[in-house]
Amino acid sequence: MRPSFLSYGALLGAASALECSPAAIQSALPSNATVNFAYPIQANGTFQVPAGDTGYPTSPLGLPALCAVSVQVQSVCNTTFGFGLFLPSDWNGRFLAVGNGGFAGGINWMDMAAGSRYGFATMSTDTGHNSSLSDGKWAYNQPGKVENWGHLAMHGSVVAGKTISAAFYGKEISYNYYSGCSTGGRQGLKEAEEYPEDFDGILAGAPGWWTSHLQPWTAKVALYNLPTTADYHIPPTLFPTIAAEVLKQCDPQDGLKDTIISDPQGCNFRPEELLCASNVANAAATSCLTSPQIDTLYKIYTDSIGDNQTFIFPHLNIGSEGQWVLLSGDKPNNLGPDYVRYFLGLGPDWDFYDYSEDIQRLADKLQPGNATVGFDLSAFHAKGGKLLSYHGQADGLIPTGSTPYYYNHVTRTLQPRGINVDEFFRFFLVPGMGHCAGTPANVNAPWYFAGANQALNLGNTVYGVPGFRDEKHDALLAMVAWVENGTAPEQIIGTKYVNDTTHAEVMRQRPLCMYPKQAKYTGSGDANDASSWECKLPY
Ligand SMILES: *[C@@H]1O[C@H](CO)[C@@H](O)[C@H](O)[C@H]1NC(C)=O
Ligand SMILES: *[C@@H]1O[C@H](CO)[C@@H](O)[C@H](O)[C@H]1NC(C)=O
Ligand SMILES: *[C@@H]1O[C@H](CO)[C@@H](O)[C@H](O)[C@H]1NC(C)=O
Ligand SMILES: *[C@@H]1O[C@H](CO)[C@@H](O)[C@H](O)[C@H]1NC(C)=O
Ligand SMILES: *[C@@H]1O[C@H](CO)[C@@H](O)[C@H](O)[C@H]1NC(C)=O
Ligand SMILES: *[C@@H]1O[C@H](CO)[C@@H](O)[C@H](O)[C@H]1NC(C)=O
Ligand SMILES: *[C@@H]1O[C@H](CO)[C@@H](O)[C@H](O)[C@H]1NC(C)=O
Ligand SMILES: *[C@@H]1O[C@H](CO)[C@@H](O)[C@H](O)[C@H]1NC(C)=O
Repeated sequence: MRPSFLSYGALLGAASALECSPAAIQSALPSNATVNFAYPIQANGTFQVPAGDTGYPTSPLGLPALCAVSVQVQSVCNTTFGFGLFLPSDWNGRFLAVGNGGFAGGINWMDMAAGSRYGFATMSTDTGHNSSLSDGKWAYNQPGKVENWGHLAMHGSVVAGKTISAAFYGKEISYNYYSGCSTGGRQGLKEAEEYPEDFDGILAGAPGWWTSHLQPWTAKVALYNLPTTADYHIPPTLFPTIAAEVLKQCDPQDGLKDTIISDPQGCNFRPEELLCASNVANAAATSCLTSPQIDTLYKIYTDSIGDNQTFIFPHLNIGSEGQWVLLSGDKPNNLGPDYVRYFLGLGPDWDFYDYSEDIQRLADKLQPGNATVGFDLSAFHAKGGKLLSYHGQADGLIPTGSTPYYYNHVTRTLQPRGINVDEFFRFFLVPGMGHCAGTPANVNAPWYFAGANQALNLGNTVYGVPGFRDEKHDALLAMVAWVENGTAPEQIIGTKYVNDTTHAEVMRQRPLCMYPKQAKYTGSGDANDASSWECKLPY
């Protein structure tokens, strides 16, 4: 006979106060929330993702013994949102909410699994709809659903998820944490701004915080390189050529030739080095660029500036070429046009070639779902909350510059009020890392630090930093140490494994430095060893 969840918990000396059953979990909830399911999973078991979770279809394997829960909550305008909870038998006393990505609707079971392996009671919301990452059709004429995605579903799920967790274990939660990247990073910052009581510590990676500018820019940046028949179009086959020239010019510039561009902002890249020797009509098959193509390159590497010299959005970094998905293909990524069509309400017939700055002005006016995050984090600071953010220097989806922009504007907002931002908000740039995770094969930057969504890139059953389960290498543990012990992180050591899948052997480790510091080679010792580096101000 299979042991029941209760006897399993008892075996581990952590018997729960509530049974792992729908009726027991329902008894902890107010009438606006209904349990979809609640059942135990044995140690080393698999959680079978319910059919139809379009956003996150992968089933996590090798779980610790836990209670798997799904709940549906009534929200505004006759909408609902759902959330999932993994309640491990071997609980560490803490609650962790994880975030989502893009427009994805669905419960992020894989990131929940990683959290539950540390022992966190881990929650994820479906944000109130069911869709893939780049599909925004659900938002059309659905202000309630957009508001759920913007902030209501996360907050409501956190409140109900905490209630269930405390009731299930029969014990108050000791500390509350959040970890998310991309849309997940935005959700974390939004929580800090609007619901400062929800979390003690927030880890927010590559945040898509400026939704009303990021999404229209996603359409605009693609148009720099469209149509594909234009003489200025750069075919994706030339992206590696550009990447190689960028590496050639900008890798030595940071002081060490090591395939990693550590300071893309400090490199004065000269695209003319790529100019074709003679007038090639069709550069597609060659390894050089024509003058019109070089114009396109300049646009890509230049901030988006609107009428009256207003700053609209930062540019893609040099070094991001390995992830130029927004510039490939014969139309923009859906994350741009779907926002205009369905969030701004212009409808399915809107043609992306009709993009103009009026679209930007409309987005600024409507602020769909109140999704954009503001700079006043004073309430989160006042209650003693801690915020860690990071952004890959080679991000091809959300320009890296948007996070220093956010950090600097929070500083401008709070410092004049006598708040020392370093006390509660620290931010780390990650040289050579793409969007939230990963590094190009020819760069091999130390990108892994157990940030949000990272573990699943190493394997289905991975959590934390294999081989280095401490707060020096693991950003989530660094967050916990900051909140609970007051040890504020000055740096986090990034790891690159020889083979990310086996993660048996380390290729390189290097400190990721607190902005605006940068990692500088000390001049002696193995450059692949973190101790050969120090974090220094670039000025
Ligand atoms: C865990 O389950 C997998 C199959 O799902 C099995 O191969 C493995 O041996 C199990 N590990 C333990 C420790 O039971
Ligand atoms: C989610 O959408 C998919 C694809 O459209 C559909 O097959 C599935 O039934 C939907 N799931 C739910 C729970 O509505
Ligand atoms: C909610 O749905 C009910 C039943 O379909 C309907 O009577 C009511 O008007 C709706 N309320 C709103 C706010 O849309
Ligand atoms: C559900 O009801 C509880 C108790 O009345 C309330 O505190 C909570 O805000 C409600 N949740 C939502 C999402 O409306
Ligand atoms: C630019 O500035 C002028 C003069 O202040 C103003 O009349 C105009 O509306 C501004 N344009 C935009 C798009 O804000
Ligand atoms: C929208 O966000 C602002 C802060 O950016 C906040 O003051 C306001 O209450 C929010 N509105 C809603 C409806 O949540
Ligand atoms: C806090 O510091 C103590 C003493 O150094 C250590 O034993 C403990 O593990 C730390 N806790 C966390 C959460 O870092
Ligand atoms: C990494 O290891 C896995 C498992 O042994 C293997 O299948 C894969 O080819 C390796 N990857 C590289 C890049 O060597």
